[in-house]
Amino acid sequence: MKYDEHRIKMMGEGGKICASIMEQMTNEIKVGVNSLEIEEISKKLCKEASVVPAFLGYNNYPSATCIMVNDEIEHAIPKSYVFKDGDAVTVDFGIIYEGYYLDMTRSVILGSNPVAEKMHDLVSRILDNVTAMAVTGLKVGDIGFYVENEVNRAGFAVVRELGGHSIGEKLHMDPVIPNFGKKNKGPRLEFGHTMAIEIIIAEKSGRMMTDPNGWTLRTIDGGISVMKENTIMVGNERGEVLTKI
Ligand code: MF3
Ligand code: CO
Repeated sequence: MKYDEHRIKMMGEGGKICASIMEQMTNEIKVGVNSLEIEEISKKLCKEASVVPAFLGYNNYPSATCIMVNDEIEHAIPKSYVFKDGDAVTVDFGIIYEGYYLDMTRSVILGSNPVAEKMHDLVSRILDNVTAMAVTGLKVGDIGFYVENEVNRAGFAVVRELGGHSIGEKLHMDPVIPNFGKKNKGPRLEFGHTMAIEIIIAEKSGRMMTDPNGWTLRTIDGGISVMKENTIMVGNERGEVLTKI
């Protein structure tokens, strides 16, 4: 696939808008704030920026954000919940800008939670390093191999059922980008390819279950989960973060 200048430009512009909305949302995540307030802010900011929230209505998903607290891993429908000291809060959010999708996730650790802080440092470092690796010729398996190895070495687990994906004309495009894999295996990536790298880790087993609402995914063992996601573009010397805060 060829990635023309227009696509690269639009993904870049969209990434900046997505990141700016995310930054404003995460600034509001504080002890005493309700999860639903963050969801409302995301909708208001999308309106102001004239962009469409990407998740709302996607496969009938009912919200513009996913907001995960502690043992919730992904796809958590925001519900009335007041953040408290020690919570690990993760917001996943995406937009559609000029027909292109952007997707990103940030975690905020409220007060003191040493395990969550350690997990947060780890996913940030891994995401940075995967971005640096993202040059023409990199194989999808190289990413997964690196991620799982780093996570296991730190004593945590990847959630194997979840991972990253390619993105652009649609939210979820091929190839998917698992957080495990074999060196030098899988699709070869080339300059201009855009993908949402999602480093999703769990404190304990990395196994998950789905809430009765059909969406919210949480750890089966009550261990906490932290994630970080950026939409990045494969570059020549290194990958480029499109959703940079
Ligand atoms: N970053 C999430 C993912 O790629 C976005 C989920 S959108 C939802 O899975 F609508 F499915 F929640
Ligand atoms: Co995603």
